[in-house]
Amino acid sequence: MSESRLWQEVDDYLTARLLPDAPEDDALTAALRDSEAAGLPPIAVSPAQGKLLQLLAQVQGARHILEIGTLGGYSTIWLGRALPADGRLVSLEYDPRHAEVATRNIARAGLDRQVEVRVGPALESLPGLADENPPPFDLVFIDADKANNPHYVEWALKLTSTGSLIVLDNVVRGGRVTDPGTTDPDVLGTRAALDLIGSHPRLSGTAIQTVGAKGHDGFALARVLA
Ligand code: SAH
Ligand code: DHB
Ligand code: MG
Repeated sequence: MSESRLWQEVDDYLTARLLPDAPEDDALTAALRDSEAAGLPPIAVSPAQGKLLQLLAQVQGARHILEIGTLGGYSTIWLGRALPADGRLVSLEYDPRHAEVATRNIARAGLDRQVEVRVGPALESLPGLADENPPPFDLVFIDADKANNPHYVEWALKLTSTGSLIVLDNVVRGGRVTDPGTTDPDVLGTRAALDLIGSHPRLSGTAIQTVGAKGHDGFALARVLA
């Protein structure tokens, strides 16, 4: 068996044991189905990763969540379900077609009152969001264009407070993060973001490699300090 087949099989096994289909998961399954039907790329977080995001939001007691990179709203639904009734999630998405699919998926999940998708390049949406003086976000999930990752970490710092959690997706990318010759702006952006997390006086972070349904990848976690 190839390594990646094995990772997929073990991921399927763990998902079947720990995330058995609940009736409310129809909205998650439907979100993936309709995202695929609409031609969106199949790059949403895996079910096990989605559940991890939800658990992190719950551990945080998150009332305010910011997501950068909505796609079809799959990760949005996992995170949105961690919110209390009066909680709020803002998700930023560049592509209006993705945002449209996501908006339908989020409504079907019954989260349209708590979740707002804002269309446009995130670096253009973020200043407007900051101008509204929102309450600090308890969790920020960064999962958009990786070249801008350092800018997104900087914005996350502006929009959070002590104890907030920043999650940065896709930091390993099959090991490309360490490729010495690379000029890939996505890799350079992710490296710059990791350097920022590792050296910033207001951040305490780590990164974990993952294998599973999405191959070899990883995520970084950073807690905002005082
Ligand atoms: N978080 C999603 C996956 C996001 S994929 C999930 O796990 O379900 C990355 C998304 O970021 C894509 O939808 C892409 O259109 C969006 N994106 C790319 N560049 C962006 C930008 N500059 N601003 C906001 N979103 C962007
Ligand atoms: C890609 C982007 C993602 O956010 C992800 O989780 C996996 C892949 C990509 O652009 O290839
Ligand atoms: Mg991702």
